Parts: sequence; structure tokens; C-alpha cells
Amino acid sequence: MSSNTETKTSASINIDGKQLDCPIVEGTEGERAIDISKLRAETGIITLDNGFVNTGSCTSAITFIDGEKGILRYRGYGIEELAEKSTFVEVAYLLINGKLANKTELDAFSQGLTKHSLLHEDMIHLFSGFPSTAHPMAILSSMTSSLSTYYPESHDTPSDEQVDLDIIRILSKLRTIAAFSYKKSIGQPLIYPDNSLTYCSNFLNMMFAVPTEPYEIDPDIVKVINQLLILHADHEQNCSTSTVRTVQSSGASMYAAVSAGISALWGPLHGGANQAVLDMLEGIRASGDDYKTFLGKVKDKKTNIRLMGFGHRVYKNFDPRAKILRQSCDTVLSKLGVSDPLLDLARGLEEEALKDEYFVSRNLYPNVDFYSGIIYKALNIPVDMFTVMFALGRIPGWLAHWKEQRDSGVKKIFRPRQIYTGANEQNYTTIDQR
Ligand code: ACO
Repeated sequence: MSSNTETKTSASINIDGKQLDCPIVEGTEGERAIDISKLRAETGIITLDNGFVNTGSCTSAITFIDGEKGILRYRGYGIEELAEKSTFVEVAYLLINGKLANKTELDAFSQGLTKHSLLHEDMIHLFSGFPSTAHPMAILSSMTSSLSTYYPESHDTPSDEQVDLDIIRILSKLRTIAAFSYKKSIGQPLIYPDNSLTYCSNFLNMMFAVPTEPYEIDPDIVKVINQLLILHADHEQNCSTSTVRTVQSSGASMYAAVSAGISALWGPLHGGANQAVLDMLEGIRASGDDYKTFLGKVKDKKTNIRLMGFGHRVYKNFDPRAKILRQSCDTVLSKLGVSDPLLDLARGLEEEALKDEYFVSRNLYPNVDFYSGIIYKALNIPVDMFTVMFALGRIPGWLAHWKEQRDSGVKKIFRPRQIYTGANEQNYTTIDQR
């Protein structure tokens, strides 16, 4: 448990005539939790919480969210200010190291990212093994796992210096892998990293430059990419971050944990939502439905259709990231001179849903992914790369959590319990008697 928690009061639990006093743990923003770690040992009973809607799995000093008030802060700094004034590399440093870097620290961190951007040449052959239809999230996850084979010294118990080096390698090389997987999927020659470019410019260059003509990097686009990555950089104990922590708890390497995090992020209820939003908008347009008809289908429980990009496990008033992106969407599209009918459709859906009883009563608001897809589309980033963009943004968060858990010195493997609902003891019958 982090030292910034206090135990002031306790809660009494009475079960079968037995009373157990459980400490109430309080965090720095006044969040409170009942510590039930002794519950089973003392009473034989466990807690049951499907989807962990009410379960804190750890204490953490990285990110604070107040879902009711729409607050998101990394290491105490408001997301609005970071998105406006910072760069992604600065935010990555902040999340991982717990403080804003001074000039010397930031230069050293950036230089590390520049220096470690190349992949071992043998890895380039691995890209040829994937079919051209391979989803880039599958490539990103398997290549991250493959990276670990080149760094066996990172397994078991890496030193502090090794951990810092692995952090730099993962942040830098996954950007190269992401761009290479795109180039491979469209059959264009790979564009190698260019050490003269900053983190996001380098990524754009690897994605969009071709050897036959010059590619000019638009500083406004670099700014938007920085902003998108910052907004996705951490979100406390979400599905993929919890996955990273779970894998770390078994003692597996940073590469193994991040690869698992990427796989968890892929699902449409998590990072895959940005792709799902665009697919949904395209589908509505193709069907000729107007947004009211579509919302009618969403509200009809028999259809199992969800309004993708709406709703959040934690934000129940608004998602502060969505608010920032809604504004950026306007700026980017007008700067690029893009007029996208999907944006009008998205706006219509949002406006209608926000006054509809179904969505209002369930506290469903646009989340960060409602507008990110439209921006990515305007930047010519292909739809199946959207979740990869989310993953690139989330890497610092995963690394910060991996490191925080490792540095905490708590060596407790994540191992939830269950309530068994299967058959009672049965006698085995041999195959001829079944
Ligand atoms: N469209 C329609 N109905 C919805 C939606 C939606 N997008 N989201 C939730 N609901 C409804 C549910 O059907 C349920 O209704 P009921 O009470 O009548 O059964 C109620 O709202 C509560 O929904 P849950 O699924 O229990 O809410 P939970 O907090 O578990 O889920 C989630 C959050 C997964 C994000 C959900 O809102 C969802 O599926 N949204 C669409 C996918 C999406 O945009 N995901 C991105 C999340 S943000 C991120 O990962 C960066």
C-alpha cells in the first residue's frame, strides 16, 4: 500500500454472528475503501463483484479520476492543461517518473527515445510472416512479445537501470513497429526512423513518407497527434492497465505485460471503440438511416446494438477528454479543409442522445473515442490503425503502472477467487459406459 494512504476509521461486518472490523483506507483526494483483505481468513466468506465495478485492486499515485465531476489528472496535473501546453514525451516522463522533467532530464529522455528507435534487422523479416489482411493490433501485440526475445536480460529480476532502458526501448520501438505494420499492410517500402525528428514527427514520417517524393510534416498535425496521445496516456485501473499489472504480478517481463495490455485494449468495449465508432457511423450512412432511427435501434434491447463512443464505467457526467477532442475536431477539420458528413452525423447523434431519456437516465455521455476516430480519419490514418494509435498513447500509462507496482516491493500475485456454480462431486465413468 502506498504511504499516502491513511487508515482513520473502520467498518464492521457482521456475518453469522461474527463481527469483523475492517479498516477504511483513505486516499489523498478523499476516496475511501474498506480493506477486506482479512475477510476470508476471519469469516470464510469472500466478496463477489462481477466486472470489478466496486473493487479497488491497488493503491496508486499516478492518475486521479473523479467520474462524477469529470476530473482527470496525471500526477496531479489537470488533463486540460497538459493537453494544451505539454508534449506527449513530457507527459510520458511525468507519468513514469512522477514529476515534470526539467530541461536536462527531458533532453536526456528524448535523446534516449531517438537513439532506440531502430528494430533489430532480423525483426523486419517477421513482418513478412503476417498476411496483408493482418490487423495491426495483432501485429503490435505479437511484435512486442517478439521484442523480448532480443533482450533476455530484461527477464527475471531486471536492475533499475535495465528497467529504465526497457521503458525507453518500448516507448520508442513500438512507434516504429506501429508505422512498419501500416507500411507492410499497404505494400509500401518501410521508412526508417529519422533521428533529426521529434517523437510525433518521426512517427508521421514513418507512416506517410515514401522514398520517391518529399513529405512535409505539418506542425498543426504534429500538435494534434501530441494531444491525442496525451489524452490517451493513462486512465488508472482500466481493463488493459489492470491486465498489465496482473501480468507484472506474476513476475513476467515488461514486454510480456505490455503485449498482454495491447491485446486487452483491442476489444471494442475498450480501445477498439474508436474503430467501432467509425464503423458504426459508416454503417448508418450506408443503411440510409437517420440518427433518430438508429438511436431507436440502440434503445431496443433486442437488437444488442450499442451507441459506440458513448458511456463509460467511471465518467457519469462527461468525459473531460471528449470535451477537449470535440473542440480539436472542429479545429483540425477546418484547418485541413475537410468537410466530413460523418462529423455531422456524429454531432446529430450526440445532440439527440444527450436529450433522450434512455441515455440521460443511464448517465451515458460521449467518451474520448466518440471524436478521436473522426480526427484520425481526417489525418488519413486508416481505420484499423485507430486502436494502434490508442495503444501508442497508452504505453506510458502501462509502463508507469508496471514500474509503480514493481517498485512498491509488494510481491503478491493477482489471483482473484470465485464462487463455484458447477456440478457437485461426480463418479467418473469409463467411455464405454457413457
Ligand atoms: N449504448 C447503449 N446503451 C448503453 C451503452 C451504449 N454505448 N453503454 C451502456 N449502455 C446501457 C446498458 O445497456 C445498460 O442498460 P440497462 O441498465 O438497461 O441494462 C446500462 O447502460 C449500463 O451499461 P453497462 O454495460 O452496465 O455499463 P458499464 O459501465 O459496465 O460499461 C462501457 C461501460 C463498456 C464503456 C459501455 O458504456 C459501452 O459498451 N459503451 C460503448 C463502447 C465504448 O464506447 N467503449 C469505450 C469506452 S472508453 C475507453 O475505453 C477509452
